[in-house]
Amino acid sequence: MKPYQKHVFICMGDNCSERGADGSHQDLLLAAVEQAVGDGLLGRGAIKVTQAQCLGACGFGPNVAVYPEGVWYYGVRPEDINEIVAEHLVAGRVVSRLLLHKFGETMPDEVVRDRVCGMVFHASEAVATFVYEGQTHYFCSDACLAVFRNDPTSILNAGHGHHASHGPAARVHSGH
Ligand code: FES
Repeated sequence: MKPYQKHVFICMGDNCSERGADGSHQDLLLAAVEQAVGDGLLGRGAIKVTQAQCLGACGFGPNVAVYPEGVWYYGVRPEDINEIVAEHLVAGRVVSRLLLHKFGETMPDEVVRDRVCGMVFHASEAVATFVYEGQTHYFCSDACLAVFRNDPTSILNAGHGHHASHGPAARVHSGH
């Protein structure tokens, strides 16, 4: 089997769906890829498209991630799909106006992760914050804050936002 050149994940989770991911993103993307294949711009089978249930960045949806680059696009509207295909998948250029972050690169300061549940969102959208040992931690809910306050040390030592650990929320400066 010939390996894919790129793998695109389109989030169809509840939060992204509420923000407008209604299935048209995938239909449009598949159609645009097919068009590019027909035009000889992409090889057949070069692009794999998969629906994702949650990419962990619900506050920014609808989200689309492209690998192997690890480029995450946020707030993607149906009318943005053709540009992602033409610019990124065909031409190899990141669509910077839709860029949430790129794997291995630091996320913007205003992007934070709730390390209890793992959700990524703008700091301004945090439901709760808590300062612990001089660092501000951001939470998507009072429930996550409560979990953190109960045992911040364990949560911080558990690493970044694992759902199972229900650890704490903190400003993320180091990317994923
Ligand atoms: S539902 Fe899409 S990132 Fe969570």
